[in-house]
Amino acid sequence: MDNWIKAGKIAAEVLEYGKKLMKVNESLLEVAEKVEAKIISLGGKPAFPVNISANYIAAHYTAYKDDKTRFNEGDLIKLDVGVHVNGAIGDNALTIDLGNNEDLVKASREALNEAVKIAKEGTEVREIGYVIQSKIQEFGFSPVINLSGHKMDLYKVHAGLTIPNYDNRDKTKLEKDFVIAIEPFATDGEGKVIEGKGSDIFRLLNKKSVRNEHARRILREIEKYDGLPFAKRWINSPMKDLAFNILEREKVIHQYPQLIESSRGLVSQAEHTVIIGKGVITRLS
Ligand code: CO
Repeated sequence: MDNWIKAGKIAAEVLEYGKKLMKVNESLLEVAEKVEAKIISLGGKPAFPVNISANYIAAHYTAYKDDKTRFNEGDLIKLDVGVHVNGAIGDNALTIDLGNNEDLVKASREALNEAVKIAKEGTEVREIGYVIQSKIQEFGFSPVINLSGHKMDLYKVHAGLTIPNYDNRDKTKLEKDFVIAIEPFATDGEGKVIEGKGSDIFRLLNKKSVRNEHARRILREIEKYDGLPFAKRWINSPMKDLAFNILEREKVIHQYPQLIESSRGLVSQAEHTVIIGKGVITRLS
């Protein structure tokens, strides 16, 4: 259990650190690199590339190489940080409001607080969804129904069980020592995400032999991430565009699409990791 506690603590510290970097005119790429460097300086590794998703992009935006994006006045930015320590994962997120969307930020945060209170042994996952949905609706917003929290295992960010953001009728009960991420997303839009452009976030799908020598070499580098998601910008090679194209075409790696609110509504997010029976592990003590 120690690695989980440690990963959670680092994730919480890094989230707080990252939050302070989010200012109008700051470079998204620089913030991403600083956040990921902080994870390593505290003794962890990224469990996935830091997600910094603005406005109607709900999730799965990370900086791409030479990304020129800067934060703008009015932006609503989700910062989602995952840390692993020997495969044990702490996953947490918050929303930074560079405009006037305080209520939307509060809606997901308070929904998370309510959900955490009932995340105990024997709770049905639908009950978690119900309190999240109710709290978000109290604020006059909608939960994003096709984004959800997730159970985690060693080296697995998504280990099967879904923790819904609405009452999905799933009566599966939480069990002692389950590690789950609860992550309400609230929006002033329709409440659904669709797939957008590629994110430059990838995961190793199927390790098989490829002929191209550049692709082979990069595949060996990718194996270092132990099956966890990684960013294309983490790989240093002049031939990486070619290699990634081959690996993606051969279905050796999978690229995650950006997730966009279907009606271009603004989206806020809050997230903690909870060990059932022990409580939240991503809180600053
Ligand atoms: Co998560």
